[in-house]
Amino acid sequence: MPNPLDHASKFVASDDIYLLAHSIGKMPKNAVAYAQSHFFDTWQSSAESIWPQWLTEIDSFKSALADLFNAEANEFCPQNNVSSALSKLVSSLPGSARSSKRTIVMTENDFPSAGFVLQQMQKLGYTLRVIDKHKDPTDLNHWADAINDSVCAVFITHVHYNTNRRVNVQEICRMARAHDAISIVDIAQSAGIVPIDFQRWQADAVIGSCIKWLCGGPGAGYLWVRAGLVSQLEPLDLGWFSHNNPFEFDINHFEYADSSNRFWGGTPSVLPFVTATNSIRLIHEIGVEQIRRHNLALCDRLLAHLPEQATLVSPVSANQRGGTLVIKFDQQERIAQQLQKSGILFDAREYGIRLSPHVYTQSEEIDACIQALSVN
Ligand SMILES: Cc1ncc(COP(=O)(O)O)c(C=O)c1O
Repeated sequence: MPNPLDHASKFVASDDIYLLAHSIGKMPKNAVAYAQSHFFDTWQSSAESIWPQWLTEIDSFKSALADLFNAEANEFCPQNNVSSALSKLVSSLPGSARSSKRTIVMTENDFPSAGFVLQQMQKLGYTLRVIDKHKDPTDLNHWADAINDSVCAVFITHVHYNTNRRVNVQEICRMARAHDAISIVDIAQSAGIVPIDFQRWQADAVIGSCIKWLCGGPGAGYLWVRAGLVSQLEPLDLGWFSHNNPFEFDINHFEYADSSNRFWGGTPSVLPFVTATNSIRLIHEIGVEQIRRHNLALCDRLLAHLPEQATLVSPVSANQRGGTLVIKFDQQERIAQQLQKSGILFDAREYGIRLSPHVYTQSEEIDACIQALSVN
């Protein structure tokens, strides 16, 4: 197995011990050079034919995602972030808000932004059915209780930001399908750290971003829609790039793009997608399976030395966990200070301290973390 140290050198170096991939992944070392050659150089040299070049870069972004997730490039549509992708998607559902089939299922442990978006959908006539935060979303019985024929869409977070629980997406998508409901999967917290195969999941739609484990920075979200479903979805939030021919310029003729591009909008922000493409390619080249193995080895190392007064909030079983260890301490404040003193970058949420070893994390850095956690 290649030495993970080789991969650490592909990311920017820092004096800190960086365990924040659940929030923002470290930047690849060549990010600036890549943006220079794939965005600024072309812009400087040929203002005339800039659109085709920019659109080629966005096509590369889609191809990079397709390779990573085992999907087709033209099924992806670039988005600013997960929240806006969700908003566009749910407001495009085919007539459900007016029919008896207008319930959307989600859980109280989803990222709050998703809750904010879905709550607004009640203004369009949808009803929300929320699986209570105390119910474990990895327990399929809760989903089975919530999904019935009144449900039009099921929102599934692959890996939860607060507990790092990982749900069985494939099975929940199957339940949704059995009740003729659309499944929407949020992979913001799992893309780049847990191997993902869209063919296996058979979801209807997947939304995500590149800022976390994909190390691709902000502004490069994406929406993937199953090809067979696209023609039934008519987004309300759109723009000239949602048109089947964006360069037609006839104000009296709008025709939805016949691909996921109908979810696009106005002038795309090109630069974030250029930066993200480089990162996605790097993560894919290293291999998500290898990154995952390295992450699990470091998590195991830390777990083996967890002090007695600590409680692991994220699942013990690696099969039910994303890349983050969420740990609750009796004296959380004091532990946080110790970590800070040791130069460890982490954060804390309602359920505890979050620590995320990525491919650039060295075992000595985890040892320093163990040391900081065990100081009395
Ligand atoms: C599961 C999950 N979904 C979504 C987001 C962020 O959404 P957005 O891209 O709209 O900022 C996060 C951020 O932490 C997240 O953990």
